[in-house]
Amino acid sequence: MPKLRVCAIPGDGIGQEVIPAAMRVLQALPLESEIVAAEAGWDCFQRYGTALPEETIQLVTACGRAMFGATSSPSTKVAGYRSPILGMRQQFELYANLRPTKSLPLSEAGCRAGVDLLIVRENTEDLYVGRERREGDTAIAERVITVKGSQRIAQVAFQLARQRKAQGKPGVVTILHKANVLKETDGLFRQVCLEVAQDFPDIQAQEMLVDAAAMWLVKDPTRFDVLVTTNMFGDILSDEAAGLVGGLGVAPSANIGEYVAIFEPVHGSAPDIAGKGIANPVGAILSLALLLEHAGVPEMAQRLEGAVEATLAAGIRTPDIGGKATTAEVTAAIIGRLAG
Ligand code: NAI
Ligand code: MG
Repeated sequence: MPKLRVCAIPGDGIGQEVIPAAMRVLQALPLESEIVAAEAGWDCFQRYGTALPEETIQLVTACGRAMFGATSSPSTKVAGYRSPILGMRQQFELYANLRPTKSLPLSEAGCRAGVDLLIVRENTEDLYVGRERREGDTAIAERVITVKGSQRIAQVAFQLARQRKAQGKPGVVTILHKANVLKETDGLFRQVCLEVAQDFPDIQAQEMLVDAAAMWLVKDPTRFDVLVTTNMFGDILSDEAAGLVGGLGVAPSANIGEYVAIFEPVHGSAPDIAGKGIANPVGAILSLALLLEHAGVPEMAQRLEGAVEATLAAGIRTPDIGGKATTAEVTAAIIGRLAG
């Protein structure tokens, strides 16, 4: 395999702690890699007047894959500031947001057993196109769903279900929608997903209303394999799912586009614990595992996941999941278990 190039964008707050931790893990893997550092975020904005410098865009483009920590957004509007991750999702048309949710050996921290699901969320359309307006006493938001957007997200979902099936998972895609009410928008999404399903006879397609799915996620998350849905439903359900398996500190995600893919822990910059050395690096490190899978080295991804599980099972955990270990201790413990 050619050298793996990864653009590392720590961002703000604990991003500065968890991305370097993930990069130490990358360097400890038996794999030729190169880490290219880039800047983005609030600190960057204050220094250079832009939260997402052109140079960062060029470095991400050149590497093709990036690890992103988190950025702090000011709570009031600041002229010229725009969230870099939203900017990058748009710039690189990162249309698929992947949120795998898998049980970890963390039952004391409220992690449910037997969960292994993947939420595939459309990342560019729906209510997030930002077409909101006010007409007198009425506020209106437009919901945009296209054939192209629905097709490409459905293809990602069915392809990933196929890959997972090859690893012994059920091979079932559940299409989540609310077409009984949103007959045009979700009607289109549902129809296109069912059409794409025809090209994947080896994968079982089923559909479920999104409200029922929210209930089943809490009641019995083990019944799901891959779920595919529109942007806003996916946003809500994926945070719900993260809550089933230990919360924000351990949840990874991927943003996938045609030419670029960006991997990031789900959490934000956590200003309340930033600089204390106790940020949980597991979300960032599991995001690195997603990057390795995307880069075509699934055996490295599995090795990494195994090391994370063994570390957590040994009770080496940061305070957010009930432990006493520091970021550095957890990272060192994971590196120490990479050999298997
Ligand atoms: P947050 O995820 O930063 O923190 C929420 C709570 O979870 C805090 O108590 C924090 O200490 C804890 N937490 C989060 N990640 C943790 C980790 N890895 N280890 C241990 N504890 C962890 O969300 P919050 O507080 O709503 O937002 C803080 C800042 O982050 C804001 O400026 C927000 O805009 C930004 N943010 C950025 C995101 C991104 O860049 N993708 C995503 C979410 C929030
Ligand atoms: Mg969210």
